[in-house]
Amino acid sequence: MKSWSATSFGTPRQALTLNPSIPLPTPNLTSTSTALLLKITHVSLNPADLVLLRSLPPWLPFRRAPVPGCDFAGEIVALGGAVPDELGLAVGDRVCGALGLAGVALGRGTLAEFVVVDCGLVAKVPARWGGAMAVGVMGIAGQTAAQMVKGVVGDGGGGLEGRRVLVNGASGGVGTVVVQICKGLGAEVVAVCSGANAGLVERLGAVEAVDYRVHDPLEDHLAERFGEAPFDAILDCAGSQALYANSPRYLKPDGKFINIVGGWSQGVVPFVRNKLRPCLLGGTPRSYELFLLSASGKTAREVAAWVEQGVIKEALIDSEFSMEQVVEAYEKLATGRAKGKIVVKVDNS
Ligand SMILES: NC(=O)c1ccc[n+]([C@@H]2O[C@H](COP(=O)([O-])OP(=O)(O)OC[C@H]3O[C@@H](n4cnc5c(N)ncnc54)[C@H](OP(=O)(O)O)[C@@H]3O)[C@@H](O)[C@H]2O)c1
Repeated sequence: MKSWSATSFGTPRQALTLNPSIPLPTPNLTSTSTALLLKITHVSLNPADLVLLRSLPPWLPFRRAPVPGCDFAGEIVALGGAVPDELGLAVGDRVCGALGLAGVALGRGTLAEFVVVDCGLVAKVPARWGGAMAVGVMGIAGQTAAQMVKGVVGDGGGGLEGRRVLVNGASGGVGTVVVQICKGLGAEVVAVCSGANAGLVERLGAVEAVDYRVHDPLEDHLAERFGEAPFDAILDCAGSQALYANSPRYLKPDGKFINIVGGWSQGVVPFVRNKLRPCLLGGTPRSYELFLLSASGKTAREVAAWVEQGVIKEALIDSEFSMEQVVEAYEKLATGRAKGKIVVKVDNS
């Protein structure tokens, strides 16, 4: 089979090699196994792939010919004997989802023609959906968007009627799904993006798009425009420390600030400061969550249910690349200017 792997570290062009012919994986499919062997049709790319490529050298002892990629859509070729009946999975079913970051860090990613995944990470692709749409909305980005919104509405679900939500980074893979879920659950959504993407986020349901390039500093504009009618929640998909530090000017005292960009990419200092510094020592008097996705089939199924209910109306696909064009696909992702998801079509049959 064909498979991409990292042979050095750095940018995708420096790091990645396409192996034209490597042996198929041979999973344990005994009576105790919950593994699925998948023939991959589509993979969507995530910024986390780039972080792993530039921060983990392939020669580390636990990473042998590491394969990048977290998201997957594909067809079940074989399954282990302990896959629970209630999942209703069978050979030939189309499934999709995302791998946990730890597995990908170890080198067991999805940019290959055949991949082994645990049944707990997959959801069936709803009938009528193409693989690109499924992987675009049920992979890391869609699952992260769903969990961010659940951070506001709670695990029991519920609506967002009468609530006003600010989404920063609204035109990217995560943001385009966050905007749709918030709008679909009844919120009034204000979206921050570049002016070129204003029409896109308004089509997805935002009542207003704020161009962060025109309104610089953004925080002063938000305070002036929304200070009298502050937000109930701010969902930050771009990772702005200034947006949080200034949030008392436009976020209600009991409002929620949820950020997904931190840790490796921004360092731990902002997290420790935002989460732990008491107001008396200059901390910001608003709640702060730094969310890290733990991908699961359960969350992918919740996203699928929101699509079926019409809460999520579109899978925004920025562009589709062939298996041979993975480096170009990653270079497009690295510009930070994708509108929705970048998808690799692995199976050309
Ligand atoms: N914590 C987690 O579990 C988790 C999960 C998924 C993703 N993430 C992180 O979340 C971030 C977003 O992921 P993604 O998949 O949505 O990335 P993406 O698809 O590459 O999003 C890029 C978007 O960011 C916007 N953007 C760039 N600079 C901006 C700024 N200064 N202000 C507002 N928007 C800006 C761009 O919009 P414009 O062109 O309109 O500016 C672009 O549409 C990444 O850093 C990723 O690593 C974290």
